Amino acid sequence: MNRNPIIPFVLIMVFGIGLMFFLSFKGLGDAEQIAKESEGGEATEEVADASPEEIYQQSCVACHGDQMQGVSGPALTDVGGKYSAEEIQDILANGTPGGMPGGLVPGNEEKMAQWLAEMK
Ligand code: HEC
Repeated sequence: MNRNPIIPFVLIMVFGIGLMFFLSFKGLGDAEQIAKESEGGEATEEVADASPEEIYQQSCVACHGDQMQGVSGPALTDVGGKYSAEEIQDILANGTPGGMPGGLVPGNEEKMAQWLAEMK
């Protein structure tokens, strides 16, 4: 039998390269999964934890004032007398041409709108 002594080395090399590819693809998949998990985890935490007051303090104070008294945006102290919860939810989601930016509270529009609708 005439065996080439280099064959075992070639086999090991092929196996090694294969293993390398396998591990790097597996690593990519794991990294994506970890990224998704941490993103999803944070997002659901925010939605579950933050009260409308906290969200207001974070996202609205700059334009509507710390007492809702209005700054560059109008006062919101009686906004519930002006709009229904549905209308407020629409303003929060889509903004207005008059300068209210939409999409500031993704996922929390309904909660915020119901809270604001009680301001009468
Ligand atoms: C960049 C400044 C800015 C920020 C930040 C902002 N607003 Fe406004 N908002 C405005 C302006 C300006 C208007 C008036 C828009 C108009 O008259 O069309 C307005 C209007 C509104 C209205 C309608 C009030 C009315 O009497 O017509 C509501 C409700 C409202 N904002 C809620 C919020 C909430 C809740 C937040 C935080 C998530 C927020 N806004 C963040 C600028 C802002």
